[in-house]
Amino acid sequence: MDKFDVIIIGSGPGGYVAAIRSAQLGLKTAIIEKDSELGGTCLNVGCIPSKALLASSDHFAFAKNEAAKHGIVLAKVGLDLATMLGRKDKVVETLTGGIRALMKGNKITTFNGLGTITEPGKVRVQPGEGKPLKVAADHIVIATGSVPINLPSMSFDGQTIVSSTEALCFNKPPEKFLVIGAGAIGLELGSVWSRLGSEVTVLEFLPRIAVGFDLEVSNLLQRALTAQGIKFHLETKVGSVKVTNGRAIATANKGGEEVNFEADKVLVSVGRRAFAEGVGADKIGVALDERGRIKVDDHFRTNVEGVYAIGDVIRGPMLAHKAEEEGIACVELIAGKAGHVNYDVIPSIIYTNPELAGVGITEDFAKEKGLEVRVGKFPFRANGRALANADVEGVVKVIADAKTDRILGASILSHAASELIAEIVAVMEFGGSSEDLGRTVHAHPTLSEAVKEAALAVEKHAIHIGNQ
Ligand code: NAI
Repeated sequence: MDKFDVIIIGSGPGGYVAAIRSAQLGLKTAIIEKDSELGGTCLNVGCIPSKALLASSDHFAFAKNEAAKHGIVLAKVGLDLATMLGRKDKVVETLTGGIRALMKGNKITTFNGLGTITEPGKVRVQPGEGKPLKVAADHIVIATGSVPINLPSMSFDGQTIVSSTEALCFNKPPEKFLVIGAGAIGLELGSVWSRLGSEVTVLEFLPRIAVGFDLEVSNLLQRALTAQGIKFHLETKVGSVKVTNGRAIATANKGGEEVNFEADKVLVSVGRRAFAEGVGADKIGVALDERGRIKVDDHFRTNVEGVYAIGDVIRGPMLAHKAEEEGIACVELIAGKAGHVNYDVIPSIIYTNPELAGVGITEDFAKEKGLEVRVGKFPFRANGRALANADVEGVVKVIADAKTDRILGASILSHAASELIAEIVAVMEFGGSSEDLGRTVHAHPTLSEAVKEAALAVEKHAIHIGNQ
């Protein structure tokens, strides 16, 4: 039986990054993946293919709706969906191939098959075909991720009622596309198909979209998406979806009344749940919480000696970058180093156009908790580069502690908000203040000047806008 220092089960961003760091630390490392490709949900059917389609559909929408305003005359704009989907698949292929090369380059042993912990220190690998093999390790890290929540009253059929996986590869834009849940997945995939010509309706149980993000900024995003043609029904709880002759009817409760919505495709994006099936956690007595997530301590240790867990399968936001940091911290701790994740500074992004990005606390959270904060805001319509780019929609909001001025959070709605937020994340990581950010030189003309100005607005001395 092959013996390793560390075995990682699951090769998503949490698992494969943990494997690389483990190998860098000189630990003999193996990774086990049940699917044919490495990379997990994020690379194969999540973050990456959705971003590829978001980019392509954004170019399409630009060509159709915006190019003429720039004086670009396009005779005929048409959609070749097969090529668009093919490009997305190629991007995925390139990246999953890259991970395979990284495993090889770092001398990490890769096993393709279902990894099941049979007893502490022992794992059985069952390939799709053929005999299982047994491997051993002093430390086993479970990084098995999450799967879409499948509600029995609107159960996925892969054709009409679909999860994000199928909504990445429709062979034509649905005429009527119904999205249940206005979270990251619903808003991103709703945007893709709306841009490609579908009539998109989003049904959301809560009175707002993008829960978890700043309320005011989320409302601005809703306004922008509505202007792009997406219809929203808030405070609308879908009870069931029935399919007859390939057409779906969703029955919802809106303000105490029953309302029906008809569609040819329904995306159920009501959240994801931890996935720990088949990994043997239950058999060896690993404790789960009330939501089926693996319980871990601050060092990612489960209650079973030598068994650890990271990423979507444990508590916290289901985000690839959170999983990566946990993977690194976990193996560093295994190697006797000081691994750590700063959970107060994890950015979160919805890749619509404009993009919505947030880090730390929101203004509504501060109000709810009675925290004394000062808020600085700056709109992109007052930013020269945004105007030059014709991307004036959006705002930067910086939240600072009223006494210490330390930045506690920020929200950005804008083109490239996903990139702009990184600066605030770095300042927060170093415990910086709004003054630090406001006094930092930002190149002109850039969108990032709006970040600086929002920081200056905390002290009410933004330059390019009146300060109330
Ligand atoms: P989500 O939890 O973000 O949003 C689900 C929404 O569905 C909620 O607003 C909820 O109120 C609503 N909902 C639930 N049941 C409903 C019903 N019966 N009728 C109407 N509305 C209902 O879930 P989502 O978008 O599926 O994402 C899952 C996870 O994946 C999240 O943790 C998310 O952060 C992560 N993710 C992150 C991405 C990113 O960072 N860009 C992209 C995709 C996913």
